[in-house]
Amino acid sequence: MTPDVRPFVAGNWKMNGLSGSLAEIEAMRLGADAGEAGAAELVVCPPATLLAQAAFKLSGSKLGLGGQDCHPEASGAFTGDISAPMLKDAGASYVIVGHSERRTHHHETDELVRAKAQAALKAGLTPIVCVGETLAEREAGQQAAVVIRQLRRSLPPETTSETVVIAYEPVWAIGTGLTPTFGDIAVVHNGIRALLTEIGGPSSAKTRILYGGSVKPTNCREILTLNNVDGALIGGASLKAADFLAIAAAYR
Ligand code: PGA
Repeated sequence: MTPDVRPFVAGNWKMNGLSGSLAEIEAMRLGADAGEAGAAELVVCPPATLLAQAAFKLSGSKLGLGGQDCHPEASGAFTGDISAPMLKDAGASYVIVGHSERRTHHHETDELVRAKAQAALKAGLTPIVCVGETLAEREAGQQAAVVIRQLRRSLPPETTSETVVIAYEPVWAIGTGLTPTFGDIAVVHNGIRALLTEIGGPSSAKTRILYGGSVKPTNCREILTLNNVDGALIGGASLKAADFLAIAAAYR
């Protein structure tokens, strides 16, 4: 946690969820509106096909909505892609960019991630910019260097603590049940804070830095109270409202 920074807990549903899953979003809304997330800002990122229906259900609630990716262009001949203004129009306020699954399966580079983050900012969305090392990079002791390189290249220079959220997600911890030690998480988050302060000045002390990768109700409290960990990006455990709310309840 960082003093005077509102924690942020986001759920990434990935390619999961049909219209029947809107019942989980409804349950999350009830929990968020009842104060179960405490001080935390709570956001769910369902597949784009559910955004408009979810936005309708969440109108006036404390649960926010995000997309999972956007194209760098606002419109055009890009079959199958979704632009940042489209996400905004469907009711999103946030968009995840540079998730490791996109970097790996869609060969996204830091430069493309930066262009997507810029498109998000232009559309009035807050990008959640993801970074994180692979297992081979971790075993070679390169995690800090990799994360710093990704951040330097992926973060648009115009971002401020108000307009961007960063998610540190070690690739080897995503969906595996494995997590770094709490000490290792703290070292990387402290390094990210130092880098942000170097490039963005003192206001970067308030940029929210999330941890992601196998966060569960059983390990969230220790992770979410570490220095410079300002919330979590949650995959598997965000698909069920009860688990998602139990994680956010770390901030009650
Ligand atoms: P996980 O996914 O919580 O299932 O490990 C995290 C993510 O991919 O954002």
